[in-house]
Amino acid sequence: MIQNAFIIPKVKDLPSDPCLMVIFGASGDLTKRLLLPSLFNLYCDGLLPDAFAILGMAIDEFSNESFREKISRDVHKYSRRDPFDDAAWARFCANIHYQQGSFDDGAAFNQLQQTLATLDSRYGTGGNILFYMATPPTVFSMISSGLQAVGLHNGQQGWRRIIVEKPFGSDLPSAQSLNREILTYWREDQIYRIDHYLGKEPVQNLIAFRFANGMFEPLWNRTHIDHIQITSTEQVGVEWRGNYYDKSGVVRDMLQNHLFQMMAYLCMEPPTSFESEAVRNEKYKLLSAVRIMKPDEVQRNTVRGQYGEGTNLDGTPAKGYRQEVHVDPDSNTETFAAIKLRIDNWRWHGVPVYLRSGKGLKTKSTEIVVQFRRAPEFTFRGTPAADQLEANQLIFHIQPNEGIELRFLAKRPGPSMHMRKVNMHFEYEEAFEAQPGTGYETMLYDCMRGDASLFSRSDLVETSWRIVQPILDEWSKEKAGDFPNYPFGSWGPKAAFDLPQPGHRRWLARSSRKAVEQVPMFEGCGKSMLNDLAMMLKPRVFNAGDEIVSYGSLGSELFIIDKGQVEVVDKNGWVKAEIDDGKVFGELSLLVTKKRLASMRAKTYCSIYTLDKRDFNMVLKDRPDFAERIMQVARERYDTIVSADDLMADEAES
Ligand code: BG6
Repeated sequence: MIQNAFIIPKVKDLPSDPCLMVIFGASGDLTKRLLLPSLFNLYCDGLLPDAFAILGMAIDEFSNESFREKISRDVHKYSRRDPFDDAAWARFCANIHYQQGSFDDGAAFNQLQQTLATLDSRYGTGGNILFYMATPPTVFSMISSGLQAVGLHNGQQGWRRIIVEKPFGSDLPSAQSLNREILTYWREDQIYRIDHYLGKEPVQNLIAFRFANGMFEPLWNRTHIDHIQITSTEQVGVEWRGNYYDKSGVVRDMLQNHLFQMMAYLCMEPPTSFESEAVRNEKYKLLSAVRIMKPDEVQRNTVRGQYGEGTNLDGTPAKGYRQEVHVDPDSNTETFAAIKLRIDNWRWHGVPVYLRSGKGLKTKSTEIVVQFRRAPEFTFRGTPAADQLEANQLIFHIQPNEGIELRFLAKRPGPSMHMRKVNMHFEYEEAFEAQPGTGYETMLYDCMRGDASLFSRSDLVETSWRIVQPILDEWSKEKAGDFPNYPFGSWGPKAAFDLPQPGHRRWLARSSRKAVEQVPMFEGCGKSMLNDLAMMLKPRVFNAGDEIVSYGSLGSELFIIDKGQVEVVDKNGWVKAEIDDGKVFGELSLLVTKKRLASMRAKTYCSIYTLDKRDFNMVLKDRPDFAERIMQVARERYDTIVSADDLMADEAES
């Protein structure tokens, strides 16, 4: 279910075609949380025609009036319009009707046909009907055959379309059979398979960005791009959806659809037009070029995880996945996945695409990173800049803070050639007048206008399943021996951090200003210095028992514990102290490189930010006024600190 709003710009588009919209499953969650708030947004933005009405159908008993009362309460709760226009809602709601009925009852479809005929002549909708299947896929066929029996699937007048919700199948064979079933009742051009990620403005903007701006397309290939990362993380766990999720898992729930759709937009060839078939043909070609993994490649190129107990954002304890309602207490279902894909075509040969998604993680965020190749350093040989050359990154922030960021190097002011990473930022909220939306508005609007570009096609769905099928097959053979392998509220399993060849490639760190702010040594540093330091942080994950720092090694980095407990172990192996969330160790090694006089060992799963002396020095050199103050703060801290930090300070003194 969608938790985050996205932004719909106020556009002066034409209203969609007149039509009646029938929602099967009208008393369910999807209808109240997303469909009705989206339809109301379209209404308020003038994008619905005057000739428009909704008929909800479900098994629950409601009259028109009691249904309107219920949805009024729901929409007030879930709509994000600000301010909420009560008068507009009253007008909109008056055109919502309800019919109780069971999907296996022929009489209910006869009744539906009569009601629709009455509504059609009352509203003048010209026979156009949109059927929305807000139901589990198991009843798609039943509903379709009910509609066919009374001739509603193909009217003599006007158009008939259906919107089908995901999940579209649970593997390749089931998707193929679902496609076959639906295609016995409907023509492909009547079927709109929804993927709400395609309704998100920043996802649609991928096409505009690539093909409306002449400067990027020539760089969009293996000559200039090193790799691509697509990450979609969620803070929430499985919530009330254990029944569905435990049979699904994150690959079926997120990767096979949402992440693949974004990958297709990002990597496809330029379509010859913006026509829906031209766009979908290119997406299909791209997905068909993704290399299908062999079993041993699945082992090397994928990481799976499941969250265990942990903490919520507010510090309260959070359940592990296996303790969630309707989840098997021995479940082998993955709530996290990271995979590395290869695209076998000329454009992308040798450019890995890393995909990552999971629930029960630290942040809710979706972003795409396009990392370019590093510039050759010979020009800067003999200058301090030679080892400061970092690759450029283009980052699409899909949610939250929708926008685009370009990170590049700039010369630091001063006599010598030093570089620093800087960024340029475009933000939707700043650039466009916008109202919060759900992501469904564009999809509904497009479907009512007969534009299928944002919807999936049977071949696209099947090709996506073909890519993930070997992964699902291999994983189903694996015992979930190490599950759970990451705590709720963390950064995910350790192995995921090793997938993109650490040292050369690493996942983009959600740089956390908060993390550097809690380092006492940086107290009083200005905002821009803290931002610079935050950009330098590198995320690392350790499992219980892993050595983070070893006795006698040369220390040249600072550690900030984001989550977990770390033991301070002396040279004889005795645990001298324990430190946990928010604590910092190794500060002095930013100032002097000395041998460590203690080992640091993860007592539990730990997520830790590290800051290198080299990076720190670079930032500090820009701000000589801080350098002195920081030295003094460090010295004072060394004198007064107790426990673990004492040991750290001792270590620096030796
Ligand atoms: C849905 C998945 O398709 O997408 C959910 O079934 C997931 O499990 C949701 O939470 C995420 O959507 P968004 O828009 O909140 O990123």
